[in-house]
Amino acid sequence: MALEILRLLLFILPAWFANSSPVVLGGGTPMDFRWNWTDGRRILGDGKTWRGFFGGIVVGTAAAALEAFSMGSYIAESFILVGLLLSIGTLVGDAVGSFVKRRMGTPPGRPSFVMDQLFFFVFALLFAAPVLPPYIDATAVAFLAVLTLLAHMVSNWIANRLGLKKVPW
Ligand code: CTP
Ligand code: MG
Repeated sequence: MALEILRLLLFILPAWFANSSPVVLGGGTPMDFRWNWTDGRRILGDGKTWRGFFGGIVVGTAAAALEAFSMGSYIAESFILVGLLLSIGTLVGDAVGSFVKRRMGTPPGRPSFVMDQLFFFVFALLFAAPVLPPYIDATAVAFLAVLTLLAHMVSNWIANRLGLKKVPW
């Protein structure tokens, strides 16, 4: 049981790293180049930058690589690819979430439950779908969804207290 949970944690950790590192690494040119959508609002907003996008993918993949090398076991070989796809999915899903938020009229930085916490998670799994390890079944996905929600809330609260984020979400 404990080992299974540890295995699930190691699996999802790259996505969490990919999702959280842009707060520190982000900045510079926004991904939407400040263009507006047809509704006159920004496509994604200033909260989605290229530096954050690629920085998140690099950090998430590096986390997977670190795990893979430290495990050195049968899970290790394909794990970097899993981590890379989880990371790309995370940052794409994060941007899609912002796209939906802007279309709904939610300003950047304002909270939107589901979009903030779970879009990246769902996209991470979709991107990694072709290489998902067999132990990621429906129960595992449900467990990780709840865990991701909790981790997101706790980490954003911490980031807020550390002064990394203006708001605790
Ligand atoms: N960030 C970034 N590039 C990304 C994702 C995030 O630079 N691709 C940085 C931005 O500084 C952003 C911060 O990380 O403000 C927090 O990310 P997030 O909460 O996802 O963005 P929000 O500012 O809340 O904007 P949105 O409402 O669009 O989610
Ligand atoms: Mg946010």
